[in-house]
Amino acid sequence: MSENKQIIDKKIDKLNALKNQAKLGGGEKRIDSQHKKNKLTARERVDYLLDNDSFNEMDALAHHHSNSFGKEVYLGDGVVTGFGEIDGRKVMLFSQDFTILGGSLAEQHGRKICKIMDTAMKIGTPVIGLNDSGGARVQEGVSSLGAYADIFLRNTLASGVVPQISVIMGPSAGGAVYSPAITDFIIMVKHSSYMFVTGPKVVKTVTHETLTSEELGGAEVHSSKSGVAHFVAENDIDAMNIVKKLLSFIPQNNAEEVPIIPTDDPSNRFDEALNYLVPANPNQPYDIRDIIHSLADNSDFLEVHKDFAENMVVGFIRLAGRSIGVIANQPAVLAGVLDINASKKAARFVRFCDAFNISLLVLEDVPGFLPGSDQEWNGIITNGAKLLYAFAEATVPKITVITRKAYGGAYDVMNSKHIRGDLNYAWPTAEIAVMGAKGAVEIIFKKEIEDAENPEEKEQDLIIEYNERFGNPYIAASYGYIDDVIIPQDTRRILINAYELLQNKVDKNPYKKHGNIPL
Ligand code: HXC
Repeated sequence: MSENKQIIDKKIDKLNALKNQAKLGGGEKRIDSQHKKNKLTARERVDYLLDNDSFNEMDALAHHHSNSFGKEVYLGDGVVTGFGEIDGRKVMLFSQDFTILGGSLAEQHGRKICKIMDTAMKIGTPVIGLNDSGGARVQEGVSSLGAYADIFLRNTLASGVVPQISVIMGPSAGGAVYSPAITDFIIMVKHSSYMFVTGPKVVKTVTHETLTSEELGGAEVHSSKSGVAHFVAENDIDAMNIVKKLLSFIPQNNAEEVPIIPTDDPSNRFDEALNYLVPANPNQPYDIRDIIHSLADNSDFLEVHKDFAENMVVGFIRLAGRSIGVIANQPAVLAGVLDINASKKAARFVRFCDAFNISLLVLEDVPGFLPGSDQEWNGIITNGAKLLYAFAEATVPKITVITRKAYGGAYDVMNSKHIRGDLNYAWPTAEIAVMGAKGAVEIIFKKEIEDAENPEEKEQDLIIEYNERFGNPYIAASYGYIDDVIIPQDTRRILINAYELLQNKVDKNPYKKHGNIPL
């Protein structure tokens, strides 16, 4: 018995030694260097992100079998993978370990990530990727490239089936950027993460531009200029808090209903301030976020893509505990006009919500599409069509509230009744027309204005007349294009009743392999 115990203890000691070796990653020196860069290690990140004691590691003992490395073998092969819980809900995750060969991705490293994704697809859980990697591992050559492609395939197949969230917490260079790009959300950490297809050195050679990594592909650039990143985090901890909050709004997979978080915020709470929020002067801006905060349970709004295409505001709220995706024109920026970036931003968000059974709320105050050669030459036609397509194909409950302007094609696009808006409301301040008064009278009364004794005065009179006739919601209401004109203060109660009504809505698109959204 004691001899048996000795043998077994020795085996257990060996296992413990191997696991401890795996936990040490690339060693103390490299861990210190990681901390000096204000970065947590791969394991510290996992510990923070997951609920206490919920992490179950997989493949901690995997390693490369490449001859090009000499004798140095790192257990885990530069990525920590496994499953655990966030706020009691299961997730599959991987966390790249920069202390091992710079977190570079190669055959075993890639295989580990694929295993995580395959499992997530079988059981229907989100995949969280904490990225911190020098890209394809040079020593393993084409196996590294193949491993990336294996991941890209799985990202694509998982898209719309389980939520995929990428957190960029270090370098993400070369083709490595394309895995996060296919996922649903990218969170970048300020000053310690960057993403680019080609780095500053290649850029300098090819285009003669001198740029730092931060200038070329840092968090601020990608959250404001390119729109690649959906969220910017102050540091690693902040990034993981964003992951937790984001997950709280979304279901585990496309077959699940949205999570409902009980609230003490009364469903019939009314807000008199909403009645006076929209300025009488149609040229005066206001902040659409004031309305969103007023409607939301406890004013809680998780804004997505906050710094990109700010003329459109998108994000998540809860109404009576149920997650809702909000898409709102922002009159405070460029009068809320629809342009290329706003259309792309909103279209992607609408499609995410529709894929994951999250009802949509549109708050509409839009003067139309942005005119000009810049927009036309860069494809406002194709890009505006993305938003139209996204709303039209969405089958989740869809509600619109027109707060002020709903002009021209933008009226159609922003989830109008005609493209299957389920319930379309307008405030008394709504103006639903083909175009604004000035543009309209200049077209239809061109001759009368030219022939008038005082053309300016004539034009002003016609503008006033036009506004009286068309600058209201009642013509649309007379056709049933809006279902009701409501007092702004009652909007929260009305929306909560409406979503409750629509919660068992069934709508379908015709059978197809897939649609051909204008990309
Ligand atoms: C193997 C790598 C590596 C890589 C870094 N390391 N990148 N090992 N393959 N791709 C190793 C380094 O040798 C070093 O090992 C450790 O990681 C840390 O790297 P440092 O350079 O010391 O760190 P730092 O100064 O912080 O610079 C980080 C870095 C730099 C910016 C990421 O290492 C770098 O430029 N790496 C190459 C990036 C790159 O070009 N990757 C390929 C992209 S193409 P030691 O032993 O000293 O700790 C690509 C194709 C994908 O990814 C295709 C998909 C379609």
